[in-house]
Amino acid sequence: MQPDELHVDADIRRASTLPAAFYTDPIWFARTRETILRRGWHLVADQDRVRIPGQCFPFTLMEGVLDEPLLLTRDGEDRLHCMSNVCTHRGMVVCEGERTQTSLRCRYHGRRFGLDGSFQSMPEFDGVENFPAPTDDLAAVPFAAWNHFLFVSLDPAMPFAALTAEMRARIGWLPFERMTFDPARSRDYLVQANWALYLDNYLEGFHLPYVHSGLIGTIDFTRYRTDLFPWGSVQVAHSSPGEPALEPPEGSPDHGQRIAAYFFWLFPTTMFNVYPWGISVNVVKPLGPDRTRVSFSSYVLDASLIERGAGAALDRVEREDESVVESVQAGLRGHIYQRGRYSPGREAGVHHFHRLIAERLRVQ
Ligand code: FES
Ligand SMILES: [Fe+2]
Repeated sequence: MQPDELHVDADIRRASTLPAAFYTDPIWFARTRETILRRGWHLVADQDRVRIPGQCFPFTLMEGVLDEPLLLTRDGEDRLHCMSNVCTHRGMVVCEGERTQTSLRCRYHGRRFGLDGSFQSMPEFDGVENFPAPTDDLAAVPFAAWNHFLFVSLDPAMPFAALTAEMRARIGWLPFERMTFDPARSRDYLVQANWALYLDNYLEGFHLPYVHSGLIGTIDFTRYRTDLFPWGSVQVAHSSPGEPALEPPEGSPDHGQRIAAYFFWLFPTTMFNVYPWGISVNVVKPLGPDRTRVSFSSYVLDASLIERGAGAALDRVEREDESVVESVQAGLRGHIYQRGRYSPGREAGVHHFHRLIAERLRVQ
């Protein structure tokens, strides 16, 4: 498949979907890794992991795909840093577990760094010319914080502020400081399908009456709508009468409406599902062309509402979604289906996602 074959018409009424090969071919998966995943913002941790000065949180960004060892730290002056976790001497991983400390020391040959990644000292290097140089510091990596959430990007294609502007404008009023992480309602799902198929399904409410019979009664499907942003979208579901609702305050774009759920998607792989009980954050982690991990983290505001409305039974809804997404992957493995068309009223979010993918893959 050539990059031109990825073209998705800007007019949804004329457009066809991404070709099947995009979801199955390892070559397209590799190109996606470089042009989309490497350049995206990824939600990597809760701020609590680095709350106390000296705390260090090592992690591997997108294990198995980007495989970048990174380190988040909070230094003695209470400043956050994100950096490469690979020693600038011979490549050892510097910080090998979560700990609290005043500096970083590589256990291979004793090179020391500050918690901001700056080179401090190295044994047995007397006489080495042009040393230390800036390249002996641990390389800084772009990161951004929003409420509980820490994001990083190896090479951001857009400013974090641009990615999140609409979401902040619409739900910035929520009392995030009163939401608490609930490990019992947080878990990973392994899906035997391409990461973008998982997103395609997430980005439309079209399938709700067909796939989620338990969910559909809690919302007013006739008013279900999708709003598009430059780097994402939100699906807005209004509550059925008697169901719990978010009531956005004055000054919010949705003031006066009873919202059952907001489904925010940030390009490429982050979703914030906002319900009256709190937020379910979903992070899609591609593992290979037809394998994906999806991590759910729950932040609870009002536990009494958790079994009610559109935000109840999330585990069941997830399994229903997985079952259709995995079936689509099987369909695309065949060679007869090539591409489909969009419903202008119901699949604007999918079309927008495909346009962003096609543009990024074509400009490489
Ligand atoms: S690899 Fe770190 S000091 Fe040698
Ligand atoms: Fe669904």
